[in-house]
Amino acid sequence: MTTNTTLSIRRFDAADTDAVVALWQQAFPEYRDMTRPQRNPHLSIANKLATQPELFFVAVLDERIVGTVMGGYDGHRGWMYSLAVDQAVRRHGIGTRLVAHVESALTVLGCPKLNLQVLSAKADLQAFYEALGYRADAVISLGKRLGEFAEAAPAG
Ligand SMILES: CC(C)(COP(=O)(O)OP(=O)(O)OC[C@H]1O[C@@H](n2cnc3c(N)ncnc32)[C@H](O)[C@@H]1OP(=O)(O)O)[C@@H](O)C(=O)NCCC(=O)NCCS
Repeated sequence: MTTNTTLSIRRFDAADTDAVVALWQQAFPEYRDMTRPQRNPHLSIANKLATQPELFFVAVLDERIVGTVMGGYDGHRGWMYSLAVDQAVRRHGIGTRLVAHVESALTVLGCPKLNLQVLSAKADLQAFYEALGYRADAVISLGKRLGEFAEAAPAG
C-alpha cells in the first residue's frame, strides 16, 4: 500500500460477492472448515442482504475489495461482525477505518452501544479493539443455534 493509493469504504454490492467470500476464506479459518456448515459465507451474505443490507460495508483499494465489516441494530444494541482485512494490507489502518465507519452508521441510527464478540482463541485481538475504545463487558456470552442448524438437546 503506497501513499498514492486511495481507500474508500462503501456499501456492499452483490457484485462484490466472490471477492468478499475469498477474503473471508483467507481471514476466517472457520469458513474453510467443511465440518461447520453453519459457517457458509454465501449464506451469511444472503442473510445480510435480507436484513439491514445498508449496514454491510466493504473497503476498496485500487478497485480491489480489501476489507469488510457488518453492523446490525436491533433497537437496543448494535453489533459488529465480519471485520476482516486482506492479509496483504494489514497494519495500515484499514481495520480502524472500517470500525469507525460502522460506528458512524450506527450512531446515526441512534444506537447507544456497540457490542462485538471475539473468539477466545483470538485473544490477541483484544488489544486492537481496546485501542479503539472497546472494553470487555463482565458477561458470559451464551448462544443457541436455531432452525436447520439447531443442535440436538442433550438426553435428560
Ligand atoms: C483484526 C483486523 C481486521 C485488523 O485490521 P488492520 O487493518 O490490520 O488493523 P489496523 O491497521 O487498523 O490496526 C490498528 C492497530 O491495532 C493493533 N492491531 C492490529 N491487528 C492486531 C492484532 N492481530 N493483534 C494485536 N494488535 C493488533 C495494532 O496496534 C495496530 O496499530 P499498528 O499497526 O500501528 O501497531 C485484521 O487483523 C484481520 O482481518 N484479522 C483476521 C480476521 C479477524 O480476526 N477479525 C476480527 C474478528 S473479531
